[in-house]
Amino acid sequence: MTASGRGGPVLDDRLETVLSLIRAESHADIGSDHAALPLELVRRGHIERGVIVELNPGPLENARQAVARADLGDRLDVRSGDGLAPLAPGEVPSVSLTGMGALTMRGILERGAARRVHPDALVVQPNDNPAPLREWALGAGYHLRAERLASGYWTYPVLRFERADGPDPAYDGL
Ligand SMILES: C[S@@+](CC[C@H](N)C(=O)[O-])C[C@H]1O[C@@H](n2cnc3c(N)ncnc32)[C@H](O)[C@@H]1O
Repeated sequence: MTASGRGGPVLDDRLETVLSLIRAESHADIGSDHAALPLELVRRGHIERGVIVELNPGPLENARQAVARADLGDRLDVRSGDGLAPLAPGEVPSVSLTGMGALTMRGILERGAARRVHPDALVVQPNDNPAPLREWALGAGYHLRAERLASGYWTYPVLRFERADGPDPAYDGL
């Protein structure tokens, strides 16, 4: 994330790319820290309302303060917890995880699936090789619908998966 001189965060290419792949009535951002992504999702009309989940107290406070400063507390609900645990099954159709390792994300998704939290759409931006997320998605009934590379400190992969039946055509012939 980069800070704008005119107030309000401006997204860097990494989070801008993630934002471009999200459109939903409601959406949860897991491990949000500064809440830059969900704030922009609401401001630009990509989502109507959202849930922000944070595991750690410092980032949780960052998210609470950012939402309060933006006066968006009526549309963004900040919750403390591990991954998808604060979400009820079927509560949100769309989820993002950004800025973590792929194995950490896969653990979050596996624990969520064990609680029957299966969002229709998942947008993930791991900081490393996304292979563990591709493998998880193949086994969990998701198809790869979009894939981008974002520039930044590293080149970041950004993937959008959607729940769908049958084999994933994205990997036909591979
Ligand atoms: C490097 S920051 C990324 C922040 C933001 N998503 C971004 O991409 O700029 C990772 C965040 O994920 C949070 N986190 C790590 N594991 C988590 C979990 N199991 N559940 C919720 N949040 C988690 C950390 O507290 C931290 O704030």
